[in-house]
Amino acid sequence: MKFEAEKKVVVEAPGTIANLVCGFDVLGLCLHTPHDTMELKLIEEKKVIIRSSDKYSLPTEPSQNTAGAPLLEILQEVDAAFGFELLIHKNIMPGSGLGSSAASAAGAVVAANHLLGNIFNKNDQVRFAMSGEKVATGVKHADNVAPCIFGGITLIRSIFPLDIISIPAPQLYVTVIHPQIEVKTSDARQILRKEVLLKDAIRQWGNIAGLVAGLMKNDYELIGRSLEDVIIEPIRSILIPGFDEVKKNCKNAGALGGGISGSGPSIFMLSKSRETAEAIEKEMQMIYQRIGLAHYTYVTTLNMDGVKILNQA
Ligand code: HSE
Repeated sequence: MKFEAEKKVVVEAPGTIANLVCGFDVLGLCLHTPHDTMELKLIEEKKVIIRSSDKYSLPTEPSQNTAGAPLLEILQEVDAAFGFELLIHKNIMPGSGLGSSAASAAGAVVAANHLLGNIFNKNDQVRFAMSGEKVATGVKHADNVAPCIFGGITLIRSIFPLDIISIPAPQLYVTVIHPQIEVKTSDARQILRKEVLLKDAIRQWGNIAGLVAGLMKNDYELIGRSLEDVIIEPIRSILIPGFDEVKKNCKNAGALGGGISGSGPSIFMLSKSRETAEAIEKEMQMIYQRIGLAHYTYVTTLNMDGVKILNQA
């Protein structure tokens, strides 16, 4: 593949909610807000340069960067005689539970694929982006990068080999609160038990199947009662101040249900209407104001498109 000078593209890479409560590592949902913006251009020398405009001190050494690692893999796979320079404007805070590393990885891959003339299908793009997740969390999980690339809600039936299924869904509003504490995904994985009781596993896969069926049948009640996690949430929720109260009050305010976003500390709730989603935002804000913890909130909807190409040259 040969070098085309001045070729560049700007993409918007959205946040995602992994797990969707009961589907640890297998379910994920793409959001409209928050999102990162990234600019990728081709450069003459075969290497990857990462520049970033944020205050997060993320590594810029490409092999240590969640966007850099997949770009290096792409250069290798296409046997390129050129390289990439990436500028990242990070909006999704690392350690938020909103798929920050996935947005960097998926945004870089979709941008690279665009510059290379769309030679990779979506599964290939997820495969590359997963190497970014490996850099960030130590594990190749796809429940953030898949919805970020496919849009909507995705089920990762299998990672090796990759088997990703897009799940249709009814209109859903998503309310998110992001308390300003950092929970590293690698730490939040470390604390989990390696074995589960059969009775818990049965309850969990009943809920996953119920959630997928509820989404496909537009059955809001079934979606709501399937948003239950008896395996991961009891352990991880201890890291999130006010978690139980947020959950209880938001359900009383009309949320279908919700829980930890990804590995936390963000908490999300799903609702049928914008009005309810906004009432839930107020409940969340009230609790965190009382606790005295700084926070951001978002009221948004499902993003069916995933990473968006903004402009190109
Ligand atoms: N499924 C992953 C976890 C998502 O919960 O560890 C991390 O965002």
